[in-house]
Amino acid sequence: MKILEDQALQPLNTFALPARGRYFCRAESVDDLREALAFSEAENLPILLLGGGSNVVLSRDFPGLVVHMALKGIERLEETADHCLLRAKAGEEWHAFVEHCLQGACFGLENLSLIPGTVGAAPIQNIGAYGVELRDRLESVEALDRATGETVRFANRECGFSYRTSVFKGRFRDRYIITAVTLRLDKRPAPVTTYGSVERELRAMGETDITPVRVSRAICNLRRRKLPDPAVLANVGSFFKNPLVSSEVFGRLKSRYEDLIGYPGPDHRVRLSAGWMIDRTGWKGCRRGPVGVHAGHALVLVNYGGASAGEILRLAREIRDSVREAFDVELEIEPRIY
Ligand code: FAD
Ligand code: EPU
Repeated sequence: MKILEDQALQPLNTFALPARGRYFCRAESVDDLREALAFSEAENLPILLLGGGSNVVLSRDFPGLVVHMALKGIERLEETADHCLLRAKAGEEWHAFVEHCLQGACFGLENLSLIPGTVGAAPIQNIGAYGVELRDRLESVEALDRATGETVRFANRECGFSYRTSVFKGRFRDRYIITAVTLRLDKRPAPVTTYGSVERELRAMGETDITPVRVSRAICNLRRRKLPDPAVLANVGSFFKNPLVSSEVFGRLKSRYEDLIGYPGPDHRVRLSAGWMIDRTGWKGCRRGPVGVHAGHALVLVNYGGASAGEILRLAREIRDSVREAFDVELEIEPRIY
């Protein structure tokens, strides 16, 4: 495997931030990853793993080895009349994998259509959309332990999944390199259309016979309408998480803001719509030089071209301040900042 020096990372992150990596390699196998680990250890350098770069903010040049995850391959491990187990390596593109599953009549990932990035990054924040999260379909995760060089397998219950997080983003942050993911999918279609806008979209499409392929199409339509395509307008999707508050806090806020949006969360708490709050505080569509808040969705910060991470983070700070002032609610940033 080639290890290059001084590599531009701008084409490798969907925010198009102009950081550089001191060293760079493209890992196509577990052996390549072991070689990368040996190099970083010998040179005493930190490692940055990059999949599609669609959930990172590169705030500076990276002083170590950037490893681009490029392990490819999909295999069907098991199939019965009811379910199938599919294993995909970490560098597979997520949406292409979803389409592969649908084409092979393995159902259950259709609500996660069109999420950018790689299969290997999907467990990091337990990707979720339109009423389904990765944890609902994941069987196990294979990973390389950076501390021991051993490969290990995590069963679903060992991944510590909850909304937009897992042990890989929390307790074990930076310890494991995910090399492959196995999904347990249905052979019998069981479309999930409970998320309000999905039902509306299917109706607008004139669909009465709801199939997984049609749900996937509806979700692609919704996403294309609402979210900017990073190839056209640089962004990392939602910049903030939807915050969780107690039912008392929700009740108090709701009596002040009748149209406040909240969804049932764990432990009788309520997950507030951060997009609605940011929209309500007047940020939607605002532009500050090369950065702004997307006109179609207030949760998405965009780089119109030439922005620095500092400009993005300053705008994010101002937004957090306004939301705190208006609602007394703290917003947490979703992408990982390096
Ligand atoms: P990267 O950005 O490359 O990496 C993210 C983090 O994971 C980094 O910390 C990186 O070091 C680490 N990492 C990457 N690969 C590995 C690996 N193999 N092993 C260990 N660590 C690894 N997310 C949602 O959940 N739901 C959405 O609906 C959604 N919509 C989006 C829409 C848009 C337009 C965009 C730009 C982003 C959206 N996202 C969404 C966020 C993003 O697509 C996901 O978080 C995705 O899983 C990131 O994949 P990636 O390969 O780009 O990860
Ligand atoms: N809303 C507004 N104004 C806005 C944006 C949204 O009022 O500018 C309102 C909408 O009208 C809607 C509600 O907020 O009633 C929720 O909006 P949406 O359906 O777009 O979902 P979200 O909560 O804003 C979350 C995820 C998305 C995911 C969608 C669909 C988070 C942080 N974001 O957004 O994930 O695609 O649901 O399930 O949970 C991502 O993580 O990067 C991401 C895009």
